[in-house]
Amino acid sequence: MNIIRLDTVDSTNTYARAHAPSLPLPSLIIAREQTAGRGRQGKIFYSPAGTGLYFTLLFEADENFDFVTPRAAVAVCKALESEEISPQIKWVNDIYLGGRKVCGILCERFESQGRMLTAAGIGINLTTRDFPGELPLAGSVGAALDPVETAEKIALCLLNSPADYSRDALLAEYKKRSLITGKEIEYTENGRILTGKAVDINENFNLEVETPEGVKSLSSGEVSIIMR
Ligand code: BTN
Repeated sequence: MNIIRLDTVDSTNTYARAHAPSLPLPSLIIAREQTAGRGRQGKIFYSPAGTGLYFTLLFEADENFDFVTPRAAVAVCKALESEEISPQIKWVNDIYLGGRKVCGILCERFESQGRMLTAAGIGINLTTRDFPGELPLAGSVGAALDPVETAEKIALCLLNSPADYSRDALLAEYKKRSLITGKEIEYTENGRILTGKAVDINENFNLEVETPEGVKSLSSGEVSIIMR
């Protein structure tokens, strides 16, 4: 695998897209620091120097390679589990440990020179402390894992997962690490904040939520667990 190590970059996902035409595939772009790390829904991903693992795996994904985000979530969990760390997946793409978000995943698909490429961006807080005030639920894994070794492990697990997993097997791996199944949650629908109970994740990786109006299936969006 082609590995590019950067000291400082705005965002490894942005770098992957900008340099896609000249990069061999797959390429793994790893940065020590991101000055404009991107999260979903326009949020920032706090990426200070030397305390986290910030990388993007750029690869060509054919139409059979779907469910990239759940594959990435399971791959991150497996890599951490191999270090005796037991995280959970908070649907749809966050990894939690001890009630705190320690990792986020941002997968983007785009066309470059007639090829459909996927940039799977993963950020893991390894030893970061003192998060900005707007990230009250952020935390760290608490282990200074080797960035290149860990990124490669996750990348290989992600790339090899189509062979390893049928959809059912992937779903089972995802569900057994699910943080929110069985919990009361808040979610947003047409700008309204609603509550319900997360009861399952279906074969399309949608979240099934039991509500007073019946079971609803959420395909995307932020959900939060109601603490009692
Ligand atoms: C999220 O929490 O909403 C997703 C965060 C994804 C962060 C990673 S860090 C490496 C890659 N580069 C980015 O700019 N974002 C992803």
